[in-house]
Amino acid sequence: MVTYDIAVIRGDGVGSEVIEEGLKVLRAVSSEYDVVLDTTEFPWGSDYYFENGHMMPADGLDRLAAFDTIFFGAVGHPDIQDHVTLSGLLLPIRRTFDQYVCERPSVLFPGITSPLSGKKPWDIDMVVIRENAEGEYANIGGFQYMGLPEELGVQSAVFTRRGCERIMTYAFDLARKRNKKKHVTSITKSNALGYGMLVWDRAFEAVAGRYPDVQTQSLLIDAACMDFIRRPESFDVVVASNLFGDILSDIGAIITGSMGLAPSANIDADRRYPAMFEPVHGTAPDIMGKGIANPMAAILSSAMMLRYLDQEGAADVVEKAVLEVIDDGKTVTPDLGGSSSTSQVGDAVVSALSG
Ligand SMILES: NC(=O)c1ccc[n+]([C@@H]2O[C@H](COP(=O)([O-])OP(=O)(O)OC[C@H]3O[C@@H](n4cnc5c(N)ncnc54)[C@H](O)[C@@H]3O)[C@@H](O)[C@H]2O)c1
Repeated sequence: MVTYDIAVIRGDGVGSEVIEEGLKVLRAVSSEYDVVLDTTEFPWGSDYYFENGHMMPADGLDRLAAFDTIFFGAVGHPDIQDHVTLSGLLLPIRRTFDQYVCERPSVLFPGITSPLSGKKPWDIDMVVIRENAEGEYANIGGFQYMGLPEELGVQSAVFTRRGCERIMTYAFDLARKRNKKKHVTSITKSNALGYGMLVWDRAFEAVAGRYPDVQTQSLLIDAACMDFIRRPESFDVVVASNLFGDILSDIGAIITGSMGLAPSANIDADRRYPAMFEPVHGTAPDIMGKGIANPMAAILSSAMMLRYLDQEGAADVVEKAVLEVIDDGKTVTPDLGGSSSTSQVGDAVVSALSG
C-alpha cells in the first residue's frame, strides 16, 4: 500500500465544480488499486482574497512544499483584476516549485466533432510542451508615471540557455517515449525578437543534435497558428515559450472539441518539488454555478497526476473510462452538445471505471 499526499486547491468559479468530480473519480479508482490518496483542501482563491486581502496566506507556499502533488481548479473573478488572482496564487506556485514543464496534450477523441472539417478521431494527437518558468511571464518589469497620461510599463522576457535546453530536452524525451511520429516542432519568433528568441533557436539546435532519431522543424508562431488550424495532424510534440505555448494550447483545446476536455500538468521534471495538475481552462464566469461545466479536463488532469505518481494502471483506467463516456455520447455536458450536468458526467466516469 502506497500513500500520496495531495494538496487540493479548488480556486474559483467552475474550478471548484470540476475538481469535485476529479476527486470523485480519484477516490473511486484508488479504492480499486493499492494506493491511498490523502487529500488536504486549501480554501485559497478569490473568496479568501475578499476576506484577507491576499489569495493565499503568507506561508502558503511553505505548506504546499510538503505535498507530493497539487490538484488545482482555476482562479479568476470578475471583480478582481486577473493579474492579481494569477500572480497571487497560480504563478507563484509554478515559479516557486520550478514547475518548468507545462504539458498540455490535445487529442481528438472518438465521439467528438472537431470544428475543423474532415477530421477523424485520433487525426489530432499532439502535446504542447510549454516553458513554464521564464520567457514572457518572468516577473520582471516596472511602471513609471503610473496612472498619468504619459505612463509607461516595461515587461521583460527572459530566455536563459539553461531554461531553454531543459524544456527542449523534456520535449525530445517525450517524443521518444510517445514513439508516434518522433517529431518535435520548436515555436520561435526570432525574425522579430532578435535576442531571447535567438537563444531559444540556438538551444533547440544544440538539443536536437543529441536526438538524431527525432525529426525536427522550427516554425514561427504566426505560421504555427495557421498550421494548428490547417494541418494539426502534422504535429507530434510542440515545444514553445511561456506565452506562445499558452496561446497554442488553447487552439489545441478548441480544435479537439472544447476547453472542457483539455488537461495539463505543471512539473519540475527533476522532481525536487510538488507537481501541479489542473484543467487548461479558467473559471468560466459565463457558466459558473449552473452545474454544466465539463469536468473531463479536470478528470483527465487527475489521470496525468496518477501517471506522474507512477500509478500507470489507475491512470489508464481513468482515461479509458473518460473515452468510453465521451464516445457513448449519452452523458456529456452542453459544450459537447449534451444536456448532462457536471456531476452526472463525473458519476458516468465512475461507473465506467469498472468496465
Ligand atoms: N489556470 C487558470 O486558473 C486560468 C486559466 C485561464 C483563465 N483563467 C481566468 O478565468 C477567467 C475567465 O477566463 P476566460 O473566459 O478567458 O477563459 P475560460 O477558460 O474560463 O473560458 C473560456 C470559454 O471556455 C468555456 N469553458 C471553460 N471551461 C469550461 C468547461 N469546463 N466546460 C465547458 N466550457 C468551458 C467558457 O464557458 C468560455 O466560453 C479569467 O479571470 C481568467 O483570468 C484562469
